[in-house]
Amino acid sequence: MPESKATWIADERPAMTVPAHDSPDSPDPRTELALILEATPWALAAMIGTMRDAATAPLDEVLAAHPRRTAVLEAAGLVRRDGDAVTVDPVLDVADAASAHSAVAARLSALRQAVTVAASEQTAGAAPAWERHDDDVLLNQGRASAGTGRALATRIVPALPGLAERLARPGSRVLDVGTGVAALALALATALPAVEVVGIDVMRRVLDLAGTELAEADPAAAGRVTLRLEDVGALSEEAAYDLVWLPAPFLSDAALQSAIPRVFRALRPGGWVVAGTNPAPEHPLHRAVAAWTAELNGGSSSDTASVEEALVAAGFRDERRYPTVPGGPVLVAAQR
Ligand SMILES: C[S@@+](CC[C@H](N)C(=O)[O-])C[C@H]1O[C@@H](n2cnc3c(N)ncnc32)[C@H](O)[C@@H]1O
Repeated sequence: MPESKATWIADERPAMTVPAHDSPDSPDPRTELALILEATPWALAAMIGTMRDAATAPLDEVLAAHPRRTAVLEAAGLVRRDGDAVTVDPVLDVADAASAHSAVAARLSALRQAVTVAASEQTAGAAPAWERHDDDVLLNQGRASAGTGRALATRIVPALPGLAERLARPGSRVLDVGTGVAALALALATALPAVEVVGIDVMRRVLDLAGTELAEADPAAAGRVTLRLEDVGALSEEAAYDLVWLPAPFLSDAALQSAIPRVFRALRPGGWVVAGTNPAPEHPLHRAVAAWTAELNGGSSSDTASVEEALVAAGFRDERRYPTVPGGPVLVAAQR
């Protein structure tokens, strides 16, 4: 009788310090936690797929149409059944199709970045920063940020004293720092029909992608977006903008430190900066992942409180916090 492949593999296996796994009596050497972590990418895939389908169909129909996928969500605790009643975690319950697309794009982007890092042969420390992400990652990251642009224009701008009036005037100007593929810049230009938006970024390739995206967009909005290859850490304009968007987690610590006083000078008196920040995560795993991904992306690990402190130290006043989702980014606004 020919030897089975499984027997041959077991015979050739080098000596290991973990328990053997070749008899039904041997325990699986992985801990329960390791098994859960290995299943997590699939739970994420179930979550993202469900969110994507729920952008175009009622959530209860989506859950019913994919029973195996929904069972994964139930096992993960994101869907709970009590008799006929089904309750879902708020993460699955997205408000509208545009928010669902942004939420899906953000998760896909994070998942793709994790796969890139996992598949990379580079050693830690030399792992990919923005330059090393492929075009799809950059486009997804950008599309995810369009939701932030809409929230900025429709919820934050009206809440900041004097800003909506300023931005309704001809000649009003907005600076989009780290403009990427210009999705956020375009969302601002669309929602604020009087403004000129200037988008700056340090990466030539992403600005080329942004140029293509703008060429395909509605010219009424895209025609008011200008792109520049420029590091915010070297910004030298004075009193040129009414609003500056500053995505702190995407800038290096050095760029962020140098940028804050320059953004202060680049604003017209009375103008506002709105900084995207991350709150200090409470869970140790979340905190460690946040610090690692910040390093991999060449970004800053400054949290909400430290960005706010740096704004005040640069002379900004009337600082205000606008949380987005529980545990998620907090927008910090402050006035020159
Ligand atoms: C999350 S992406 C931008 C997403 C963007 N809102 C969009 O719509 O695509 C962050 C961007 O910040 C840029 N960036 C990083 N450091 C920068 C700096 N010091 N000055 C300007 N841009 C920077 C990166 O090149 C990257 O394109």
